[in-house]
Amino acid sequence: MTGALPTAASLYERVRRVIPPVEWPAFTNDIEAILALKRDRNAVILAHNYQTPEIFHCVADIVGDSLALARKAATVEAQVIVVAGVHFMAETAKLLNPNKMVLIPDLGAGCSLADSITAEDVRLLRQRYPGVPVVTYVNTSAAVKAESDICCTSGNARAVVESLGVPRVIMVPDEYLAINVAADTDVEIIAWRGHCEVHERFTSADIRELRDAHPGVIILAHPECPPEIVAQAEFSGSTAAMLDYVEREKPVRVVLLTECSMSDNVAVAHPEIEFIRPCNLCPHMKRITLANIRAALEENRHEVRIAAGIAGRARRSVERMLSL
Ligand code: 13P
Ligand code: SF4
Repeated sequence: MTGALPTAASLYERVRRVIPPVEWPAFTNDIEAILALKRDRNAVILAHNYQTPEIFHCVADIVGDSLALARKAATVEAQVIVVAGVHFMAETAKLLNPNKMVLIPDLGAGCSLADSITAEDVRLLRQRYPGVPVVTYVNTSAAVKAESDICCTSGNARAVVESLGVPRVIMVPDEYLAINVAADTDVEIIAWRGHCEVHERFTSADIRELRDAHPGVIILAHPECPPEIVAQAEFSGSTAAMLDYVEREKPVRVVLLTECSMSDNVAVAHPEIEFIRPCNLCPHMKRITLANIRAALEENRHEVRIAAGIAGRARRSVERMLSL
């Protein structure tokens, strides 16, 4: 990377609607150091939509939902990739870039969905339902992906399920995503009992309170939410689909039933829209900070490695999804 680095003042312009001036000085040293490290090390930062605004808007090179991050990871030219997201996203980036250094700033950035299923669970499901293909949400370990026929994200789950041309599929591990997809397709779906600890907490009482307190509010729900929440929302889609909805429909008042930083990141570009913010924090996404991104680039920590016996088969499941 060449050229002058943006100044702290110009970066603050991007986030001043969501970061108070009194908080900004705490970020500037790390931001300046990270921008210089990226240039010097030929590195890029991939950031998920749930990253905090100072990461998302000030140091990230590529941002998006899980699908966009996987697609764009496949085309990265830099030698070092830092994933500002959770561990399975870093593994996906490594699968698609086996010869590059992929770093995750905090090894504890996990995911309750990824923790809900093992490779052995998938093998047992195959024994129980012989011949039924396994569609695996990207929110899983590489070992689980390796046992699968194809991956999906919340942005393409229905298309992936229907692409297989079969009457019945196994879909793991998110039970709610599976039920929400099943409501939209004729394909029978056998689900697993995994849940996202962030989205499972939204309730019908939350929706009633929102509609009472904010007349006319448009409710967008992530498909990891329980089916009764999705049924009551005006729209359901991946984090990227929520952003598209907001930009297309320009609702006067909106609530995004998902992780908290999502609204902040969208609100930055839409001062004309009122974002109501009951939201839930993802403790795993929040483990990523400017300080540990900087340390990742300074000290190469923590490098993601995937055993050769797993990587090839897991890559095939991800690439099959990306080829759709
Ligand atoms: P998407 O960004 O793909 O909608 O996924 C949400 C999520 O929970 C990722 O961990
Ligand atoms: Fe996992 Fe839910 Fe956090 Fe996404 S929001 S990383 S699905 S726990």
